[in-house]
Amino acid sequence: VTILITGVAGFVGCNLAQAFLKQGETVAGFDNLSRGRLQNLAIVSTAQRFSFVQVDLAEIEDYGRALRHVHDRNPVSEIWHLAANSDIPAGTADPAVDMRDTFLTTFNTLRLMKELKIPTLAFSSSSAVYGDHGDGMLNEVSGPLLPISNYGAMKLASEACISAAVEEFLTHAHIFRFPNVLGVPATHGVILDFVRRLRTTPDCLTVLGNGNQQKSYLHIDDLIEAMLFIRQRASDRRSVFNIAADDAGVTVRFIAEEVLGVVAPGARIVYGKEDRGWVGDVPRFRYSIAKLRALGWQPRMDSVEAVRKAVSEIANQELSK
Ligand SMILES: NC(=O)c1ccc[n+]([C@@H]2O[C@H](COP(=O)([O-])OP(=O)(O)OC[C@H]3O[C@@H](n4cnc5c(N)ncnc54)[C@H](O)[C@@H]3O)[C@@H](O)[C@H]2O)c1
Repeated sequence: VTILITGVAGFVGCNLAQAFLKQGETVAGFDNLSRGRLQNLAIVSTAQRFSFVQVDLAEIEDYGRALRHVHDRNPVSEIWHLAANSDIPAGTADPAVDMRDTFLTTFNTLRLMKELKIPTLAFSSSSAVYGDHGDGMLNEVSGPLLPISNYGAMKLASEACISAAVEEFLTHAHIFRFPNVLGVPATHGVILDFVRRLRTTPDCLTVLGNGNQQKSYLHIDDLIEAMLFIRQRASDRRSVFNIAADDAGVTVRFIAEEVLGVVAPGARIVYGKEDRGWVGDVPRFRYSIAKLRALGWQPRMDSVEAVRKAVSEIANQELSK
């Protein structure tokens, strides 16, 4: 059988493809290369058990043709749907972006899974489905689910359609609510942004917001491990899990200082006045991972360790360009 990963040329997708190939699985990957890059697939593309198709999943005809082609040769047993708009400000500037790349790609995935009787879906949702609740502890059962960005809204709408599909034709759905995930190949995110700004103006880093936003961060290695762990262990037909480091997180100020230390020691940091970096940014959130812990999984790295590892990895990625 084949495992299909959508958004495979993105940050999480290419790491996941690598992990499945290591486990001996056969992997097909789809991506329209709007935000992901072929270069991210360099490590996996040499594997015999890996195939890639460039296709826009918002176009149901094209998506259907590509999926039937893979499915006819070697049945697809699971779809890991990671393709989405990953840029929150882009979805604020034009809500059609989240509608198309996040919601419609999920909607089309479900239509095709029904037609082709593909039983299992894994979906990369986000902490953004919860919204802004300060220090309130957010959990999978009671929410509250009040997104403050179109990005979060379209993730939540996708979750809702997936839940309904379990009633009708899916055997299992794994909904993973990711926190901020760090590592390489970085395609977006705060560390990449800081490293790039410092390459343009090495003596000064301008930070969006006052730097006091505090979030928990998870390293990609831990994220992949958690998802594969849930895939093995979770028994509910609708399994919804928060995945995060088990701590209160770190501030943007901490991240800025870490990046400076590696990339441009001695540079100045200029903070903004706002308590958030952009519209839809959630300045603080606390995420309960009690459910995941009860299943038997713990992250190896806390937020501080994840940030330190990723700063060094992303600095290397950018400096080697
Ligand atoms: N990285 C994080 O911190 C984070 C946090 C929460 C949720 N997520 C979710 O995890 C998933 C992966 O995120 P990522 O960080 O790897 O982002 P990414 O942008 O690197 O990867 C997403 C991939 O989807 C592809 N894509 C987008 N629209 C498409 C379309 N219409 N058809 C085909 N391909 C399309 C892009 O080209 C890209 O390669 C996304 O669903 C994202 O929303 C990520």
